[in-house]
Amino acid sequence: MSADQSNQHGHGRRGLDFGALLHGAGSHLAAWRHPGSAADGELDFAHHASVAKTLEAGGFSAIFIADVVAVWGHHLDSLSRTTRASYFEPLTLLSALAAVTERIGLVATVTTSYNEPYNVARKLASLDHLSGGRAGWNVVTSVVPLEAANYGRDEHFSHEDRYRRAAEFVDVVTALWDSFDDASVIRDREAGRYFVPGGRAAIDHVGEFFSVSGPLNTSRPPQGHPVIFQAGASETGRAFAASVGEVVFAAPRTIEEALAYRSALDRELLAVGRSHGDVRVWPVLTPFIGSTEAEAHARHQALLDLVHDDVLRRAVQDNVGDVDLSDADLDAPLPEIPDTNRSKSRREGILALAAEERLTLRDLGRRLVGSGTIGTPEHIADHIERWWKAGAADGFNVSFPVLPEDAGLFVEHVLPVLEERGSFRPHLGSTLRETLGLQKPALRARRGAGLASDEVVDGARSA
Ligand SMILES: Cc1cc2nc3c(=O)[nH]c(=O)nc-3n(C[C@H](O)[C@H](O)[C@H](O)COP(=O)(O)O)c2cc1C
Repeated sequence: MSADQSNQHGHGRRGLDFGALLHGAGSHLAAWRHPGSAADGELDFAHHASVAKTLEAGGFSAIFIADVVAVWGHHLDSLSRTTRASYFEPLTLLSALAAVTERIGLVATVTTSYNEPYNVARKLASLDHLSGGRAGWNVVTSVVPLEAANYGRDEHFSHEDRYRRAAEFVDVVTALWDSFDDASVIRDREAGRYFVPGGRAAIDHVGEFFSVSGPLNTSRPPQGHPVIFQAGASETGRAFAASVGEVVFAAPRTIEEALAYRSALDRELLAVGRSHGDVRVWPVLTPFIGSTEAEAHARHQALLDLVHDDVLRRAVQDNVGDVDLSDADLDAPLPEIPDTNRSKSRREGILALAAEERLTLRDLGRRLVGSGTIGTPEHIADHIERWWKAGAADGFNVSFPVLPEDAGLFVEHVLPVLEERGSFRPHLGSTLRETLGLQKPALRARRGAGLASDEVVDGARSA
């Protein structure tokens, strides 16, 4: 049976997929203070491995590691009240997790602004080989200005420039993955030929940002290309997602926003010769689960009460842009916020919310820190199904407030409700593409020349 067939559920559509953000003690800023979290989980491999295994056993399609290539904020006092100043590098963590899991997808966030395509192509190809075809790449362009200072730049690239760089970056990486034919490694002991010389070619890329000869020094990844995840939300970002994304994360606040996003994405897919079915959209879901509605709300409130005032101020500041709110009155309306080179769509959404609901800085901080879906497993399952049935989501990227507690609650109590209703069935394939019902990309037409066999042999001897 093909992956697609095994994933059908009688709705004429695939069943739901779930990905999970893995975040040390959890995604909530006060998670580490909650008794259900691993307070010391941030660099604890055994904790990450245990959560990954719980999610794999529950039928999650992928785990996803977010990343920023800097300390996540520069206000030491507020940082010192969170676990945000220290975390694993995603590819390193996922390589280790590959060894202790069997079928779950392993998605690494890697920025195109502060890397070189050759390094990234190698590392992701290696993860795909190490994990037997379970690698994914969340392509980001970096949003935190502090990242620039770690890479010899005074300022971050402008929004337009970084998306142009990202487009060229992905183009080069995929060309490098294709610089080896799938069948070129023949390991013919009799004839003494390890790979077919003509099955490997330079890419000879010269573009606006990169010059890369190739070929890659790793054979074609088992999936052809690791699965590409993307979260562009602005017009430029969404067009980029439409051109390269296979799973798109989005963070719409309502079903209406999610449907508008999906329609715009579908139009952009058509414009680049792709179609609706080529891309899965997984909005973020942050579940606060309780055995009764009252218990769920009490858990949500208890976590909010653990957030210090300085952390609330910073939560607003870090999301709306380059403004200093250290001395702002938490109980007054939001002050004027200047334009930003960070995530524009996120800033605009947040400012619109504050204006519409006349929120004080404290209210807004609490919304940002504590936003999510609060309720019983049935309530959360209803929410998931409503979005899925409306066509606003093909799956969800679940951001667990408290880990490991919430991963366990979700797998034990929410997934069985969805399974019972026929909207979800654990369906892990042997590769991430198979799990998601995505086609393996065909080898693209070669741009560079194949290497002559004597060059290859000489290269191998001198290596
Ligand atoms: C679920 C989700 C996870 C994200 N993870 C990261 C991340 O780990 N690192 C990062 O730099 N940006 C991350 N982003 C930001 C996106 O890459 C993107 O910049 C953002 O969605 C705004 O889109 P825009 O650049 O088109 O305005 C994430 C966004 C979403 C919705």
